Amino acid sequence: MTADASAPDPAHPRGHNAGTTRAAAQAALPLAGAKTAADAAPPEPVIERARFLATELARHNYLYHTLDAPEISDDAYDALYNELAGLERRWPMLAGGQSPTAKVGGRLLEGLAKERHRQRMYGLDNVFSASGWREFAERMRRAWDERLNGPMPLVFWCDPKLDGLAVELVYARGELRKALTRGDGETGEVVTDAVRTMNSVPRVLAGEGAAPELLEVRGEAVMFREDFARLNARQEALGLKTFANPRNAAAGSLRQLDLAVTESRPLRFLAYSLGAVEWGECAPCLTQGELMARLTAWGFLTPPDGRLCAGVEQVEAYAEWVRANRTGFPMEIDGAVAKLDDLEAQEVLGFTARAPRFAVAFKFPAIQAQTLLRAIEIQVGRTGALTPVAVLEPVPVGGVMVSRATLHNEDEIHARDVRVGDTVIVQRAGDVIPEVVGPVVEKRPPDAPPFRFPHTCPACGEPVHREPGEAAWRCDNLACPARRLRAITHFVSKAGLDIQGVGEKWVEQLVAAGRVQSPADLFTLREEDLLGFERMGETLARKFLAALETARDSATLARLLCALGIRHVGEQTARLLASRFRDLDELAAAPTETLLELPDIGPEVAASIRYFFATPANRIVLEQLRERGLWPVSPGADAPAPAAQARATPLTGKTILFTGTLPLPRARAQALAEAAGAIPVGGVSRKLDYLVAGEKPGSKLDKAKALGIPILDGEGFRRLLAGAGVEMPVDFLQE
Ligand code: IVH
Repeated sequence: MTADASAPDPAHPRGHNAGTTRAAAQAALPLAGAKTAADAAPPEPVIERARFLATELARHNYLYHTLDAPEISDDAYDALYNELAGLERRWPMLAGGQSPTAKVGGRLLEGLAKERHRQRMYGLDNVFSASGWREFAERMRRAWDERLNGPMPLVFWCDPKLDGLAVELVYARGELRKALTRGDGETGEVVTDAVRTMNSVPRVLAGEGAAPELLEVRGEAVMFREDFARLNARQEALGLKTFANPRNAAAGSLRQLDLAVTESRPLRFLAYSLGAVEWGECAPCLTQGELMARLTAWGFLTPPDGRLCAGVEQVEAYAEWVRANRTGFPMEIDGAVAKLDDLEAQEVLGFTARAPRFAVAFKFPAIQAQTLLRAIEIQVGRTGALTPVAVLEPVPVGGVMVSRATLHNEDEIHARDVRVGDTVIVQRAGDVIPEVVGPVVEKRPPDAPPFRFPHTCPACGEPVHREPGEAAWRCDNLACPARRLRAITHFVSKAGLDIQGVGEKWVEQLVAAGRVQSPADLFTLREEDLLGFERMGETLARKFLAALETARDSATLARLLCALGIRHVGEQTARLLASRFRDLDELAAAPTETLLELPDIGPEVAASIRYFFATPANRIVLEQLRERGLWPVSPGADAPAPAAQARATPLTGKTILFTGTLPLPRARAQALAEAAGAIPVGGVSRKLDYLVAGEKPGSKLDKAKALGIPILDGEGFRRLLAGAGVEMPVDFLQE
């Protein structure tokens, strides 16, 4: 990571894309080495505070940039940052090269290969007002005059500024060869395989005529709001980590070592500019507008509502229009971008140390509002985690009524000192999840006491506990009614057995009536149990029971494992377990070491599985499920092809990884492998049984070679499949 002295922009230090401050430094301020007797030494509490702020900022930088898992909002981060910057201005000896205020950009994730960009990926300068924009335009004109004396072409291409992850795609003679994240601008992470799982990325440029010899297409990987909401709901139902906002979800999905995970995430790539290009036989684009049309013709998506604006005022009007309509866009946007339309003029103006002179971002303020915090409610999740929720006097925030907002966890409440009775600032973080930014302390009633996080479960009254290093308090009582309700709701939901017509509403009533206390009780229901409920007639009751019966008879082991809601066991892990174990008895008996031998299962997941089966209350429920006829048995039962279901093959349970360009879509190759009983995985490890390498295999091949893992080409894969009784379609071998 480079510290670029010209880069820090204290006004918006967290703008990852703006190439500004966040760094993953393990910061402690270099107080000891700070110099000069002339500088007044700050008082001890100030030193303490500055040290605290630096450490906090470094931690949040790491969470945000490297782990894609921020704990606080951008505004809360800005407040910490500005406080530190203020102290450093007042006492310059506090500042120094190690301070987070002197750092730029993100850090690269361990584990992904890195590569330099042919041309640096710059950020954009920001303006926050019409006057800021006019000043920028004036600077642009002056820079132009210094270079040439002709009139500057005052036509701009404007489009919304997408809040995602900047990515560069490299095409050679029209074929996708490589994809890199922006990284620190100089060097990015290689995400070619991950990008290949995205439908919105053309593998081959569409259209007639010659493709450029070399074409680097730059754009943003984003997740649409709707897709994000669905993804988070699914993650939550599976007891997996949820994402703070679509940007983090997009970044986390792309910077993944497990491609199956990336593939299951609804990412899209929207193109907006070029890096290096060698046009060759292909006619070059002369304007940004033309480029956007060409990108569309090549098969790319582009930012919506881009248009040409003639003159400074039109750009202003456009930015205002985007701001007013920002919530109507399908994806998150955090501003508008204006670029000089004439590509030659772009080249003439060039770049400053950190950003182009020919383009600028109009940034929007976060959408915020003030309202009264009526209460702090504690919700108990399926896994027992206690989440504080702010109950608010309803208030419109950017066109949406907000009456509840997350407070994340105990530490967050204390860090912001939020109290019941406070007037609080509410914001829709990344426009989606409402959150409480902090209190308006001047408006605090004199008698508002600090909030005390309960140490007993609000649903069952049992004591709760918090593991060191974890943010959440947990209720460990499996009989806790709140946990039970959530567990049963999950069991019947789409993420579980997907029992049609048996939704949350009915589960709530059945649990409240004491008729159902565990998922197994569902299978003891009779018509007369149901008829007592309002709006439940005979027809509906029969359908309800039939749906349960169908679910019981058709459930696979993998689905049942999902439905049980074992922490950290999502769909993919459930399938893996189902392919390795015959039934729940076998899995329950498996020692940790056996679990750890499985691909993609680490100590945390293994421990969670062991814990689930070791818990007496769970064993009782499992016994009941068996008695009531829900006990799927699986000889690799979820494999799609009957061949593998019927009998074990030499490939049953073997792990296989595909890398490089295969002549058939990767998903198809994986399906064939699955049909033969194998388990496709996302990364190379000692537990990998086979690597199938296509063209341009990259680092996975090297790693597999180093570990002595058998490596196959297309023909080898065909033979392997044949040995397991699965025919390879002929097209795989043509080439
Ligand atoms: S044009 C030379 N257009 O925002 C840079 N960038 O914060 C030309 N971004 O680094 C970039 N939406 O990654 C452009 N419609 C848009 C954009 C956009 C988002 C990103 C881009 C840039 C960052 C700056």
